[in-house]
Amino acid sequence: MKIGIFDSGIGGLTVFKEISKALPSFEIIYLGDTARLPYGIKSKRTIDRYSINNVKLLKSLDCEIIVIACNTASSYSTNLLKSKFKIPIFDVISAGVKAALKDNPKILGVIGTDSTINSMAYNKMILNNNSNIKVYTKACSIFVPIIEQGLIKKKHYNKIIEENLKFFKNKNLNGLILGCTHYPIIKRKIKDYLGDDIRLIDSSLEVSATLKKYLEINYPNEFTKRKSKRSILLTDKSNYFDSVIKKIFNKLDFNIKLIDIK
Ligand code: DGL
Repeated sequence: MKIGIFDSGIGGLTVFKEISKALPSFEIIYLGDTARLPYGIKSKRTIDRYSINNVKLLKSLDCEIIVIACNTASSYSTNLLKSKFKIPIFDVISAGVKAALKDNPKILGVIGTDSTINSMAYNKMILNNNSNIKVYTKACSIFVPIIEQGLIKKKHYNKIIEENLKFFKNKNLNGLILGCTHYPIIKRKIKDYLGDDIRLIDSSLEVSATLKKYLEINYPNEFTKRKSKRSILLTDKSNYFDSVIKKIFNKLDFNIKLIDIK
């Protein structure tokens, strides 16, 4: 049983990491569409097209389950992908909202790419569950290239993070949803600015728990197998990739392949 995970870049590796831990016996293929990144400032039309290409590619590699490890693609293309491909598809927005609602919050913040925030996907899903929650959202697309290029260590980028997050100061948030899979990589920086006690909601744990539950019910025999293979496919590999992957996994021993999406 192969699971295919995709994101526009390396952000979805935060999801890949959790799923890999939770499901050691499943073969997992990660596709990072780094050549076409960023998705977060593109229109629905383009995001839909890229998402369809990504699922087709993963299906051609025999993936039978797909995880959209990208909030931007999840917010625009989940329904389209579910209707087009008749295989189970999991997204990070439902997972993020499910995790956020666990503590009965009254006030929530959401950060994401421009496309995710403009889609209102988080607002709609949160308010559908509980219309009394106050939701503050802020687009922070600029964080993506900073993270993707491993620039986060440079002090002067703190200013950009602070400028973007200052909107949430004094909003008395009960939680801040990290509505972009790149953002868990800068959790520390976000806490440094908004305070250590801010509850940061990262959908990777929730999506891997939901997926595990689904597989336990539908494919129990797959859990008895031996540890299975992991592969990372990228549509482009930049010089800074190795340092960022090391930050996420503390190691570099992955089978990474370059691939073209047609
Ligand atoms: N990591 C992606 C997300 O979760 C988007 C990054 C981008 O391509 O802009 O939205």
